[in-house]
Amino acid sequence: MSNTITIPTSIEWHCDHLQILNQQKLPKVTEYLQLRKIDDFYDAILSLKVRGAPAIGITAAYGLALSAQHYPVDKWEDFLHQFKIDKEILASSRPTAVNLFWALERLEKKIDQCISINEAKTLLLHEAIQIHAEDEETCRQIGEYSLEILTPGTSVLTICNAGSIATAKYGTALAPFHLAREKELYFKVFACETRPVLQGSRLTTWELQQSGVDVTLITDSMAAHTISNKGISAIIVGADRIASNGDTANKIGTLSLAIIADHYGIPFYVAAPSTTFDLTIGSGSEIPIEERPIEEVTSIEGVNIAPEDTEVFNPAFDVTPSSLITAIITEKGIIHPDFNQNIKKMLR
Ligand code: MRU
Repeated sequence: MSNTITIPTSIEWHCDHLQILNQQKLPKVTEYLQLRKIDDFYDAILSLKVRGAPAIGITAAYGLALSAQHYPVDKWEDFLHQFKIDKEILASSRPTAVNLFWALERLEKKIDQCISINEAKTLLLHEAIQIHAEDEETCRQIGEYSLEILTPGTSVLTICNAGSIATAKYGTALAPFHLAREKELYFKVFACETRPVLQGSRLTTWELQQSGVDVTLITDSMAAHTISNKGISAIIVGADRIASNGDTANKIGTLSLAIIADHYGIPFYVAAPSTTFDLTIGSGSEIPIEERPIEEVTSIEGVNIAPEDTEVFNPAFDVTPSSLITAIITEKGIIHPDFNQNIKKMLR
């Protein structure tokens, strides 16, 4: 039996602009922004107005395709030159989520097939729309596979927001909870607040409440106590880049959760689309880790919470070694260890 529920989305294509939900302002303000110029797209990604690996890739694809519609050039070489400049601008926005680079490369491959500027403009836009549409189906499939290994009726813990608003729809780590609602199944979700910019408390709680999922907020430091006292059956997280041996970069704090899961003997699942795998790298040590402005740590909503001139280290992601991961759930199926072999087999 299917239940009609409201699953929020954050990206909408409107012919001459991309409309995004401003995730910087949630949950206080529900504001939508129109992105038109390449700098709008760059700024939206850099400043986390749109965030989450798949959503970053989709937004970048639209940005590159939309900008190309307006190049004031007649010659193919000039078109390509401008295209490469825009591609570099977008590629410099955030370094860790590989979906960004995957989407930009996919668009570049598309224009390699074109013989005219007009054809390139049309194909680029079609490709961006296609990337967007594919991601929704991919995430739904990740949700279906996740429901094969999570046990309805239990409590599950997550971090950051690997949800519907971080993708085209449904999310990755949060997809099973949205689908469970549609199927009238029940989960209790514990959401880590996710310092420093609070994607857990600001976004995951908001998103799950919108679709009627039972969600309880904890601070990151409460995870071990919650796991040992609240009967958490599993941890499920998203990913920004997965190396070919299964090492996984995800929001800072994910590694601590994997270590705690190992200590308490509960499964630790990563949910991610095939677009988040980077098979060009052998291990997590090769994943570039973004470091963000110190103000994200020294202040909350503009209010200082540390003495002036405090030294700060603010990595946005950490890498969980594959030895701590129970399984990786993709749209193609569930990958179990040995990851080195099984990732290649599944993604082939
Ligand atoms: O800095 P963010 O908010 O972009 O980080 C997001 C995450 O770490 C997510 O878990 C990951 O991108 C997967 S989103 C489906």
